Amino acid sequence: MITNTIQELFDRKSVRAFTDQEILPEEKELILKAAAAAPTAGNQQLYTILDITDQELKDKLAETCDHQPFIAKAKMVLIFCADFQKWYDAFQAIDCESRKPGPGDLMLACSDANIAAQNAVTAAWSLGIGSCYIGDIMELREVHRELLHLPEYVFPTAMLVFGYGNEQQMNRKKPERARVSDIVCENGYHRKEKDQLKEMFQYNNCPGRDYEAWMKAFCNRKYNSDFAKEMSRSVGEYWKQFEE
Ligand SMILES: Cc1cc2nc3c(=O)[nH]c(=O)nc-3n(C[C@H](O)[C@H](O)[C@H](O)COP(=O)(O)O)c2cc1C
Repeated sequence: MITNTIQELFDRKSVRAFTDQEILPEEKELILKAAAAAPTAGNQQLYTILDITDQELKDKLAETCDHQPFIAKAKMVLIFCADFQKWYDAFQAIDCESRKPGPGDLMLACSDANIAAQNAVTAAWSLGIGSCYIGDIMELREVHRELLHLPEYVFPTAMLVFGYGNEQQMNRKKPERARVSDIVCENGYHRKEKDQLKEMFQYNNCPGRDYEAWMKAFCNRKYNSDFAKEMSRSVGEYWKQFEE
């Protein structure tokens, strides 16, 4: 049985162009409350959401996040930050003799932040409001740290831009996904052979087209791109402080 929730999950797609319709304060409040209602490790809410309302800041983020102008035109911009700082500060404030945050704490905080973000996406869609993730907020660590006043143990894992989608965006076909059988392994990971990889990736990415040409172009455009390399450098810098 397909419930309304499941249908909305099937229908949701990224929206990158918006109408002039504003997001009402009560809609924003619901989206934020839905984010806060997400599952969270130990009920710690290891995240902080930055609500970017300053247009100048949006304009800057549109540039620093790999030059994506639609960010500046979004009606609402939220940055979900993995945040271990607030717990560490609270431990320190009353002498809990706490250790320094480690990689495990970081991973939990990233999970928490992203799960909350996805709740916001789903809640917004249910209100008719579109959104798009901006992964590039993880780039340029030093720049974003200064721009957003981020302390040591706070890292922006996802930015979301929201707005009512224009007609073209709402009528756009949602990109196909891989078959469920290709993304599920029973009782442990089954590494795929060359032919199985081709079968899997061709299915939804380049059906009926030259697979090798598509894969090589994709690898160059995404995986080997400057922005992907910058993201790894930036995240690596952040990781360093957890490894000491
Ligand atoms: C972690 C993450 C980062 C993303 N970063 C960007 C981005 O920087 N710019 C963009 O236009 N879309 C971005 N997207 C949206 C994806 O491109 C989109 O989800 C994907 O193409 C599938 O399309 P759909 O969301 O319409 O189903 C991101 C999505 C995720 C989950």
